[in-house]
Amino acid sequence: MEFKKIGIVGSGAMGSAIAEVMILNGLEVVIKDRTMELAQKGKQNATKYLQEMEKYVRNLPEREIKRVEKFGVSLSDEQKAKIRSSFPEPPDVEKIIQRLKVTDTYEDFRDVDLVIEAVFEEQKVKNDLFEEISNYLRDDAVMASNTSSLNITEMASHYRHPERVLVIHFFNPPYLMPLVEIVPALQTDGKIVDSVYEFFKGKRNNRENLVPIRAKEAPGFVVNRILIPMIGEALKVVEEGIADYETVDTGMKKGAGMPMGPFELADYVGVDIVYHVMESFRKELGDAYLPARTIKQMVDAGWLGMKSGRGFYDHRKKD
Ligand SMILES: NC(=O)c1ccc[n+]([C@@H]2O[C@H](COP(=O)([O-])OP(=O)(O)OC[C@H]3O[C@@H](n4cnc5c(N)ncnc54)[C@H](O)[C@@H]3O)[C@@H](O)[C@H]2O)c1
Repeated sequence: MEFKKIGIVGSGAMGSAIAEVMILNGLEVVIKDRTMELAQKGKQNATKYLQEMEKYVRNLPEREIKRVEKFGVSLSDEQKAKIRSSFPEPPDVEKIIQRLKVTDTYEDFRDVDLVIEAVFEEQKVKNDLFEEISNYLRDDAVMASNTSSLNITEMASHYRHPERVLVIHFFNPPYLMPLVEIVPALQTDGKIVDSVYEFFKGKRNNRENLVPIRAKEAPGFVVNRILIPMIGEALKVVEEGIADYETVDTGMKKGAGMPMGPFELADYVGVDIVYHVMESFRKELGDAYLPARTIKQMVDAGWLGMKSGRGFYDHRKKD
């Protein structure tokens, strides 16, 4: 099975970044949102991610030259030229972005091979989407959800070919995080899972090769099942007065090798998103997963992390 043209539904944080990764890999992409303006905004963000990558790759040789010279080595012009020529050419942003089309109708999805939906994290919204899109996709297309925690078997039952449905779960932001969790619904044909797995194995994001892993349908799959309770435990440490947010984050970065502490991560992902996943774990896995009191209060107060300016930390710009 070949996936050459990809449809993305939802051009928010995840949809726009997944689209960027796909066009970077030479694929044609059409991205849909509720309005043309929203879809266009997603394309602008995808352009920004490509431009950031272009700048990063363009600066790599000079960074390497500086790194070598820091050790007191004086490089000749010839040696510098050799270093420069050993790095890849920066991507041609103008050319790559032309592979991304925007739309507000599924009419433009009639010829896509694979769809990844990245709309709001609500079961009904996703079920309705699977039902509607059934009327437009080819019989041999594959339909995927980027859901973090919802029921894919239920979504599949709303699609005309439930055996062609699965979860393709990217991590935020997909252009930097290489992991992709691939999770079948109860109805999914194993051959579809294999071909999606193989497809992602050969792809890359702005920094490195993508790393697909397989998991079974379960709350949080692999990574969030571990990560979210860890944030919950970190909250308990603070609520019990053992340490404050900053100390916990420092501890986990310097002692456990995490690039971000649990509270920095929660602010980055969105405190509301973390809370909703905690709630879904409690419903499916039991009261041991009861969210700490503080996080519910924060959601009620609108302290949602970086996106609202305040979360576990204050992200408002200081004068
Ligand atoms: N943000 C994360 O860290 C993260 C990580 C992994 C997975 N996810 C999952 O990805 C999905 C999207 O999350 P996000 O953070 O990008 O959300 P977001 O709110 O940034 O974007 C959602 C987009 O979907 C659009 N949309 C909603 N309903 C639509 C419909 N019926 N048709 C077309 N467009 C529609 C919205 O207008 C919006 O632009 C969710 O399922 C979420 O759980 C999020």
